[in-house]
Amino acid sequence: SSNMVDILQNVMDHAVAVARKAGEVVRDAVRDDRKVMTKSSAVDLVTQTDQKVEQLIIQSVKEKFPEHRFIGEESVAAGEPCILTDDPTWIIDPIDGTTNFVHTFPFVAISIGFSINKRVEVGVVYSCLEDKMFTARRGKGAFCNGEPLQVSDQTDIHQSIIATEFGSSRDPEAVDKIFCSLRNILNLPVHGVRGAGTAAINMCLVASGCVEAYYEIGIHVWDVAAGSLVVLEAGGVLMDVEGADVDLMSRRIVAANNRTIAEIIVKEITPFGPIRDDAPPQKH
Ligand code: IPD
Ligand code: CA
Ligand code: CA
Ligand code: CA
Repeated sequence: SSNMVDILQNVMDHAVAVARKAGEVVRDAVRDDRKVMTKSSAVDLVTQTDQKVEQLIIQSVKEKFPEHRFIGEESVAAGEPCILTDDPTWIIDPIDGTTNFVHTFPFVAISIGFSINKRVEVGVVYSCLEDKMFTARRGKGAFCNGEPLQVSDQTDIHQSIIATEFGSSRDPEAVDKIFCSLRNILNLPVHGVRGAGTAAINMCLVASGCVEAYYEIGIHVWDVAAGSLVVLEAGGVLMDVEGADVDLMSRRIVAANNRTIAEIIVKEITPFGPIRDDAPPQKH
């Protein structure tokens, strides 16, 4: 309905405005917030800025949309439930790339997704150190600073760059599985493997045509809610790591420029299977 369209436009406008404000806070804090705390492990970092920015976003949205629900990384860390319902829900990652933020590695994003009926309708990713505002509305395309985005048209995996991350688990078995998948992919061979250090920016790189695919196991809904719509609206595809339809709550994702590339990634990643010690066959 036109009423719904209005609501989504208002949501988009507000998400962009508050992401920009949050980005300013993050940019300023990059220079002086060095008090680092840890969460689930010694390499799972959080700062006061993560918490402050999440509160800033939630408070600002609440004033404008008092009925809406929230899922935010640091609220969940503080004990709030992480349940995606059919209600209008803001899915917030206040700083995607906290490790980058702590080290001044220059890719840090504010990620804001908005879902209705468990489907993301608006996605905003603000790469605040680059000052790039990525926006997407379902059915209306994806943009960076107002310019339309289009995924790469590459269908040859051998001419591709694949993005992934190493996550924050240092459990030896989990680390082995990451490297097993990575080895399979490198040996295809591919042009390169990259990781920006933020799930949201990796997805925006897919949407921008800079990398053909991004995959990761261990992500949360706040990492990928906004970015997944940016990928889709730039013409890309989303898949579960086992090839089924993606479930944003499943903690795993493949985002690619097209199905051909996505299916090859799915074939090469070994999320649950035994770790193969044999070198995978050279296909080139
Ligand atoms: C992390 C980043 C990282 C990814 C992790 C995420 P955070 O988010 O997106 O690139 O590898 O899975 O948890 O903790 O910096 O918001
Ligand atoms: Ca985190
Ligand atoms: Ca994140
Ligand atoms: Ca975060």
